[in-house]
Amino acid sequence: MLLVKNIKKLVQVEDEPRRKVSGKEMSSLPFIDNAWLLINGNLIEDFGRMEDLPVRLRELASAERHKGPSGTEAGGKVSSGGKRGDAPSATEQGRDAPEIGRSADIPSGEKNAGSGRPAGEKGNTTDPLRVLDASGKLVFPSFCDSHTHLVYAGSREIEYIDKIRGLSYEEIAKRGGGILNSAKLLQQTPEDELYRQSLERVEEIIKLGTGAVEIKSGYGLTTADEIKMLRVIRRLRDTTPLIIRSSFLGAHALPAEYKGRREEYVDVVVNEMVPMVAEEGLADYIDVFCDRGFFSVQDTERILEAGNKYGLRGKIHANELDYSGGIQVGVRYNALSVDHLEFTGQDEIEALLASDTMPTLLPGAAFFLGMEYPPARKMIGSGLPVAMASDYNPGSSPSGNMKFIMSLGCIKLKMVPEEVINAVTINGACAMGVEGTAGSIARGKRANIYITKSIPGHEFMPYAYGSDLIDTVILNGEVQVR
Ligand code: NIG
Ligand code: FE
Repeated sequence: MLLVKNIKKLVQVEDEPRRKVSGKEMSSLPFIDNAWLLINGNLIEDFGRMEDLPVRLRELASAERHKGPSGTEAGGKVSSGGKRGDAPSATEQGRDAPEIGRSADIPSGEKNAGSGRPAGEKGNTTDPLRVLDASGKLVFPSFCDSHTHLVYAGSREIEYIDKIRGLSYEEIAKRGGGILNSAKLLQQTPEDELYRQSLERVEEIIKLGTGAVEIKSGYGLTTADEIKMLRVIRRLRDTTPLIIRSSFLGAHALPAEYKGRREEYVDVVVNEMVPMVAEEGLADYIDVFCDRGFFSVQDTERILEAGNKYGLRGKIHANELDYSGGIQVGVRYNALSVDHLEFTGQDEIEALLASDTMPTLLPGAAFFLGMEYPPARKMIGSGLPVAMASDYNPGSSPSGNMKFIMSLGCIKLKMVPEEVINAVTINGACAMGVEGTAGSIARGKRANIYITKSIPGHEFMPYAYGSDLIDTVILNGEVQVR
């Protein structure tokens, strides 16, 4: 068991987990000042205010202190125990923490200690207690990055220079660069090497505080290479502590050999790729780049229908380059999310309001490409939920830094800090179908959290846009080496 004590502020903490937060509710963030958090095995067991720390835990923590440094972990960050009664009162500790959002109901620590773990999970109450002191620090649930393409080969910094010199994303794509460039590289790269390159990115985003990530195929563009990508995603899921979901994106770009024969390529996606991917159980979701110059609404309908037959729900690229009809077709097929959404007007908002589809914004792509930003304020003002993700990929957003995505949300999308935190945690989890496991600090959810350095409050995270403010990453209840 791991006890994190003296937490200055435990952020996004819930007694009753919500699926998502929408509209006005997005500007409220539940928290507990001067808190403790108990992790049992790989799960969150309980939490509360320091002044209510159960006697049992105080005693265990103090017994651990007398045992010496055996609890010390990576980086020497684990303290060897806490003194009884050394916790400052809530008012002392929380004085400088602004009271925004609403306070979560405080569990009665004694009563709740030891509860909340679903049967059959890894928790073991006979484990020795390790103690981490988080004085002056905040604890957040890990980021849920619901849209990435982080399995890719090589990089595309040469196109980046073309962009600096004035070529647009679409012009580069038309010349056979862009996605087709990455596809060529990926096709030449053996599976093990692709895994090695992608693992480096996974390790990078773990250090940056991500605890759940969705990864897409889409740089294979042949049946064999799409399967190769999806196998790499599966291997990352089996070998790393991240929660990973995968999406099959065969319709990401039209391969050069199908030029002028788009429908024939869609035939291959529908008749060959989807059945193989589904039969091998390689994908959780299905994606299409439904936009001007890429795939049409009709193509998207065919692909979503094929995916739905195998239980693959849509998570689609829509309205990045134009009012493409992508949002509406996503909604019609009950997509889990529609992503990008730079071109979102009243019709699109109405369609989303009548749906369970999560609008997902990827401000890193608009930032990197110097393009239009989606109308986040209008969407939230209309009562919609909004998730934000990194879109980590070599062409339009070569970064998986979700803290920077929060900053872009504030600076470019005019969202307030509480809204961006909701967008990258609870709503991100919902946009990738892991809201029961991740996205908030709740009893029985996976212990995927990060502890910040000493910072004034949660607003400081998106504000200090270039600083590394993460001190300790915990995934599956285990401290990760940074
Ligand atoms: O989400 N828009 C389509 N796909 C990616 C870009 C992929 C690439 O350029 O390699 C995106 O931005
Ligand atoms: Fe994308």
